[in-house]
Amino acid sequence: MNVITTVADMIAARERLPRPLGLVPTMGYLHEGHMTLARCARRDCRSVIASIFVNPTQFGPNEDFAAYPRDMERDLAMLTNEGVDIVFAPTVEEMYPQGFSTYVNVEKVTDVLEGARRPGHFRGVATVVTKLFTVIRPDRSYFGQKDGQQVAVIKRMTADLALGTEIVVVPTVREPDGLAMSSRNVYLTPAERAAAPVLYRALCRARDMHKDGIRDANALRAEVTRMIVAEPLATLDYVSVADAATLQELEAVDRPAMISLACRFGRARLIDNVVIGQG
Ligand code: PAJ
Repeated sequence: MNVITTVADMIAARERLPRPLGLVPTMGYLHEGHMTLARCARRDCRSVIASIFVNPTQFGPNEDFAAYPRDMERDLAMLTNEGVDIVFAPTVEEMYPQGFSTYVNVEKVTDVLEGARRPGHFRGVATVVTKLFTVIRPDRSYFGQKDGQQVAVIKRMTADLALGTEIVVVPTVREPDGLAMSSRNVYLTPAERAAAPVLYRALCRARDMHKDGIRDANALRAEVTRMIVAEPLATLDYVSVADAATLQELEAVDRPAMISLACRFGRARLIDNVVIGQG
């Protein structure tokens, strides 16, 4: 496996790779969720590039950019094991050189949920992902359903700007007790870790209600809220039942929808979602 740290070397290397070429963008501190994306790419593509870059522009001033967990050595060992061909791990100066002043702003779908609570977050995500797409020119790019709004934003942006890569969405990988895997789970104390699976239990309950024919979105929101506020260590931020593509809140679940939530457990802010009414 080859580790590339400059944009110029990455552009030169991409030209020599057999296609189709798959890209797995990450911020490192890899876990089984990231590895599942890499495995899907390895299965589908002749060449696989993973990127590791903790992107400063997607963190707010009071967020955890400096504290974000990092372990490059372990990440490289895991990606070698998975048969990834190249790891692109640029420095901040390489991605955002002196004078950098161009940003990608996806409208509407970024106004709600995480976008409303983390101003500038999706501008940072859209900008760095556009730059990765431009430098690497992947045929397919792999993203996790775990970050459901990120998927909606990247799909919208890729279509709008004709970025020429297929967006492949991989189902959320979970711990045996249902907690969605996340690099930020390391912030949980043992008691918070034990309580956190309530999030997925609540989402599954709403999914079951929908399966049983309940179409009133407020009834689904109310049930998820009821289950989570009953957990003393949880501080619920929001529960949403929204159109899966536009993320506009629904009154009736009459189309593919995403039930999503954000919830704080101590230092950790966790997000999760399930998709309903699809296929
Ligand atoms: P990061 O949080 O490192 O996640 C990288 C990719 O792994 C994302 O597509 C994310 O949705 C996926 N992922 C994380 N946990 C997962 C899980 N439990 N199951 C399935 N997929 C999971 O998302 C980012 O980085 C950044 O915003 C990035 C797209 C790299 C841009 O900086």
